[in-house]
Amino acid sequence: MLVNSKEMLQNAKKGHYAVPHFNINNLEWTKYILEIAEQTKTPLILGVSEGAMKYMGGFDVIFNLVQGLIEDLGITTDICLHVDHGSSFEVCKKAIDAGFTSVMIDGSKHSLEENIALTKQVVAYAHPKNVTVEGEIGAIGGEEDGVANTSLYAKLEDCVKFYQETGIDSIAPALGSVHGLYKGEPKLDFDTMQKINEALPIPLVLHGGTGIPDDLIKKAISCGISKININTELQIAWHNGMMDFVKNNPDQYDPRKVIASGEQSLKEAAIRKIELFQNK
Ligand code: 13P
Repeated sequence: MLVNSKEMLQNAKKGHYAVPHFNINNLEWTKYILEIAEQTKTPLILGVSEGAMKYMGGFDVIFNLVQGLIEDLGITTDICLHVDHGSSFEVCKKAIDAGFTSVMIDGSKHSLEENIALTKQVVAYAHPKNVTVEGEIGAIGGEEDGVANTSLYAKLEDCVKFYQETGIDSIAPALGSVHGLYKGEPKLDFDTMQKINEALPIPLVLHGGTGIPDDLIKKAISCGISKININTELQIAWHNGMMDFVKNNPDQYDPRKVIASGEQSLKEAAIRKIELFQNK
């Protein structure tokens, strides 16, 4: 069933584990992730970046695709359909109007006051429609879908003010994680992470989950992280499986066979993350 992220994230915060957020890119990706959600009985979040939205045709296509797959595949696990890094009120509104159950408004490129005003506007539109809102504070480094950022660590007092003035349901404080591959060891500020978790009643989100070693993921969960976003790692897993296939079957031209050749490695990588995040 499609649900917002409220209950799954609150349960994770209480239960000291993290809900996986996997970005989707196409029909096959979405189907594979829904199948592992069902197989492992894990409620999870399907993240849709603006780049993926444009690639797949638009929010209506994606909503209908996800809803159709849930019905046709008989998915019984709770699934949240979420906009990843919505850049404006209009983008979030479009997704909500299409049926998305959760949005992230990323106002991190603005000043704190502007970020608060923008996030508040999204919350005011989303909440009466039972849609949850994630906000970002500080700036997550690295690059996703061509959008590059320099890391800017979030401050505890800004997070408290941001939460109090916006009424968001979850918060992504930038604390040293980056989108894409890390250059060297990630430098996460666990001390501030723990303080934000103690100061706020809402769940904390860790972006840039790819390339963070397992022990640091576990530490982040112990410091209050309740949702972890993974994109690049699944892309790499799919790519490895697909490249092996293409090398061994250079004459295969059926796109279904080529795309599906990455299914197994993508699913194995996603299951490994689910087990890690849930301490299974
Ligand atoms: P990675 O691509 O580093 O896994 O980050 C994903 C992410 O944070 C999406 O918002």
